Amino acid sequence: MSALSAAKATDEYELARKKVAAFIKASDSTDIVFTRNATEAINLVAYSWGLSNLNPGDEIILTIAEHHSAIVPWQIVAQKTGAILKFVNLGVNEVPDVEELKEMIIERTKLLVVQHVSNVLGSVLPIEDIVIWAHTVGANVLVDACQSVPHMVVGV
Ligand SMILES: Cc1ncc(COP(=O)(O)O)c(C=O)c1O
Repeated sequence: MSALSAAKATDEYELARKKVAAFIKASDSTDIVFTRNATEAINLVAYSWGLSNLNPGDEIILTIAEHHSAIVPWQIVAQKTGAILKFVNLGVNEVPDVEELKEMIIERTKLLVVQHVSNVLGSVLPIEDIVIWAHTVGANVLVDACQSVPHMVVGV
């Protein structure tokens, strides 16, 4: 590849990053990291952030309605670090019980892993509220937006 076409490829790549950033209203295109799929993205977070930041007794909250690819990496990370997984059940409407989720958040909570729109239930979780609750104890939130970004306007 010539220097000129390499530069063009880089420019096109950065343009794609800018387009994606605009599409999801990210404040900076450098925040966009391309992966092959959501499974790889979640594994990337689990094995980088998870393994180096979670300690025995730290808690990770997930819902029982998460996609398999958002559960398995955290089961492995929990085994390796001694972190504890806590699962939010479905409530009366057969959708993840948001009140139960809110009550589960405590000082030891370090991460919440939640789908925005469920691929099995079609339910929509109130991500803005969940992020506010998580941040009150300094916890991070991994939002699986696989089913929301293609179907509704999303602003990160
Ligand atoms: C909610 C949700 N999370 C994760 C995935 C996994 O996505 P991928 O196939 O891009 O790894 C899917 C796939 O349908 C999904 O619906």
